[in-house]
Amino acid sequence: VFHTPELTPDDNVADCAIAIDVLRATSTIATALASGAEAIQVFSDIDKLMYESEGWLPEKRLRAGERGGSKVAGCDLGNSPLDCTADVMGGKRLFISTTNGTRALQKIQASPQVLAAALINRRAIVEHVVQQCPETVWIVNAGWEGSFALEDTVCAGAIAQGLIDALGCSLADITGNDELVGAVALYQQWKDNLLGLFHYASHGKRLLRLNCQSDLKYCAGLDVLDVVPIQREMGVLIQHR
Ligand code: MLT
Repeated sequence: VFHTPELTPDDNVADCAIAIDVLRATSTIATALASGAEAIQVFSDIDKLMYESEGWLPEKRLRAGERGGSKVAGCDLGNSPLDCTADVMGGKRLFISTTNGTRALQKIQASPQVLAAALINRRAIVEHVVQQCPETVWIVNAGWEGSFALEDTVCAGAIAQGLIDALGCSLADITGNDELVGAVALYQQWKDNLLGLFHYASHGKRLLRLNCQSDLKYCAGLDVLDVVPIQREMGVLIQHR
């Protein structure tokens, strides 16, 4: 089932819940873990992030904050996955708060299994879900302040198509909602030009205005990282091994 955070039930959980924020929080999280971050701790509130990270040795932590696409003053990093290189991330805990992505992750944190997905780690997520074989899967897109986002929807479609291919079934065999069917159709339409789709997306345009062309290009890469960010404890993601 494909949801926005607002339509994700509070009084219910899925066996497996997947948060998507292709531009850019879940792309950044996947990249930071692939580059050797020991864990990612997510916050919706930046003051809470500052307070909770205070107890960590400065050389063991990094603080990343983004609002409206720009870096938050006082943080070490903004939300560019391209800043998450091995020399920057190695052995560090990344404390991160972004406009929508970290809220989507917090919204689903009560589920028994919580994953962070983007286009760059789509195949790894699909393989993990197929192995686990959960009965119910929620795919929750971060969107932008409650509204629909093309880049998250196309990623939800890419994941659903990956599951369909891996299970050797058809879309009709999956008991999804209308949003999921629409997401698969969007992916079919744009799978050979994901970067082109980002140029139509409102947040894609926002990032282009902020000169983040390289981020868009990187985040449009499909199946480039073999990493499964999985929640180990409430709000803390590690790389699944
Ligand atoms: C968000 O959480 O809304 C995004 O990741 C924004 C961004 O591109 O930094």
